[in-house]
Amino acid sequence: MTTQPIQYHRRMQLVFPVALASLLVLGGVRVALDSLKNNELYFLWQSRLAGSRGPGLPIIVSEDEVIEDGCNVFEGKWVWDNLSYPLYREDSCPYLVKQVTCLKNGRPDSLYQNWRWQPNGCNLPRFDALKLLEILRDKRLMFIGDSIQRGMFESMVCLVQSVIPEGMKSLKRIPPRKIFVIEEFNASIEYYWAPFIVESISDHATNHTVLKRMVRLDSIAKHSKEWEGVDILVFESYVWWMYKPLINATYGSPDDVREYNVTTAYKLAMETWANWIETGINPRNQKIFFMTMSPTHLWNWEWKAGSDGNCFNESHPIEGPYWGTGSNLDIMGSVKDVLGKLKVNVRLLNITQLSEYRKDGHTSVFGERKGKLLTKEQRSDPKTYADCIHWCLPGIPDVWNEIFYAVLLQDYRNNSGIA
Ligand SMILES: *[C@@H]1O[C@H](CO)[C@@H](O)[C@H](O)[C@H]1NC(C)=O
Ligand SMILES: *[C@@H]1O[C@H](CO)[C@@H](O)[C@H](O)[C@H]1NC(C)=O
Ligand SMILES: *[C@@H]1O[C@H](CO)[C@@H](O)[C@H](O)[C@H]1NC(C)=O
Ligand SMILES: *[C@@H]1O[C@H](CO)[C@@H](O)[C@H](O)[C@H]1NC(C)=O
Ligand SMILES: *[C@@H]1O[C@H](CO)[C@@H](O)[C@H](O)[C@H]1NC(C)=O
Ligand SMILES: *[C@@H]1O[C@H](CO)[C@@H](O)[C@H](O)[C@H]1NC(C)=O
Ligand SMILES: *[C@@H]1O[C@H](CO)[C@@H](O)[C@H](O)[C@H]1NC(C)=O
Ligand SMILES: *[C@@H]1O[C@H](CO)[C@@H](O)[C@H](O)[C@H]1NC(C)=O
Repeated sequence: MTTQPIQYHRRMQLVFPVALASLLVLGGVRVALDSLKNNELYFLWQSRLAGSRGPGLPIIVSEDEVIEDGCNVFEGKWVWDNLSYPLYREDSCPYLVKQVTCLKNGRPDSLYQNWRWQPNGCNLPRFDALKLLEILRDKRLMFIGDSIQRGMFESMVCLVQSVIPEGMKSLKRIPPRKIFVIEEFNASIEYYWAPFIVESISDHATNHTVLKRMVRLDSIAKHSKEWEGVDILVFESYVWWMYKPLINATYGSPDDVREYNVTTAYKLAMETWANWIETGINPRNQKIFFMTMSPTHLWNWEWKAGSDGNCFNESHPIEGPYWGTGSNLDIMGSVKDVLGKLKVNVRLLNITQLSEYRKDGHTSVFGERKGKLLTKEQRSDPKTYADCIHWCLPGIPDVWNEIFYAVLLQDYRNNSGIA
């Protein structure tokens, strides 16, 4: 990135005091919530609910919580900020699967948790779990996609769960869904496993084939009937497509399996999805988001010339500009084409570039392989076993959710007519 020095200084002068103030407050709140006993938390919950404008009444979104007009929040840089980040502690969120709990799994450094995403032209609002819950009142939010998307779901649950006392929240597993219910708000945050969005032989949430893949490019009904009427839908699908340059798939006759170019197959699947969006969605009641590809960091020669490892032992973000070969531009082009032709408004969460910088955020050898934590022997062989696709939590998916929250908040304000 080439931000001009003059612009930079002017922006910093405007932004710095505000940012610093909100950091301190946020840091304080997080630590306090983490250390509260449940009865204290319950009391705080009740009084904060009473102190908000009352159930169902509009929340107040202040001027500095709104993304400035024309600001592209996806352009910016990572700033060291160990005062306000992480937004929650790994061991205070009981809903994380062991695939992402890197510290518990033995990762020696936690630096990856301490970075804030700073857009070039504006600030992101501070994440306020109660405001999000009010936005979600009487609603269902659903994240749909693969295990990357499951990370985003878990991140969202962790971001909100610390304000909710025990007994007033629950996580249900009804495969292929996971459902986090917040009863007092009649709201749910859900996850739906559909690694290709369209139908495939890998749709079983817990027992799916990984190496053998076959996608039904024109079939989506089995899934989409479960998405009908959901208030906010967030879609993501990428990494499962990228196993080989060709992929087995059907289009038309379900018995006619052929090898398709992955780029072609992805586009056809996106079009099937787009057709459903145009016919199956009520744009007045339902909001649709599409999240772009989550980058991988499989070859460190891409950011460190001459080396031949992967994301293992990386502890700092890449200082831009950087775009790795893992984020396929043809696929990105297909997403752009298909979304560009849609008549329904689908909001893009273009998280690829900001995540590209974060070679340090992957689970590496402190995650799982085939559903099991790595053994000591496997850990000592990072070239074979490091996972440079998934992300540790707390971590990068929290920032995707902060941006997602900022858009929801802005949308809420636009639609409520309350300034
Ligand atoms: C935060 O980072 C600064 C700068 O690297 C360091 O001096 C300080 O000790 C860190 N604080 C904590 C609580 O880790
Ligand atoms: C709870 O939310 C659902 C939508 O998710 C809505 O249909 C239902 O009416 C709500 N229930 C109450 C009691 O408001
Ligand atoms: C997983 O699926 C395979 C193939 O469909 C089946 O043979 C196997 O019994 C299943 N395993 C479990 C634990 O359900
Ligand atoms: C497609 O399926 C056939 C038959 O199972 C297999 O031999 C071939 O390798 C598969 N192609 C790809 C790209 O996976
Ligand atoms: C797949 O299609 C893309 C775009 O049309 C092309 O660039 C690529 O070379 C094709 N790949 C294969 C394996 O045919
Ligand atoms: C990790 O990198 C540091 C330098 O950044 C190096 O000193 C250390 O030996 C590396 N650890 C391993 C296990 O490769
Ligand atoms: C997402 O952003 C990148 C630049 O960061 C851009 O190249 C790409 O076209 C964008 N994707 C879409 C679908 O607009
Ligand atoms: C809210 O309204 C502003 C100004 O009209 C517009 O720029 C922005 O895109 C809207 N935000 C959302 C999330 O719709």
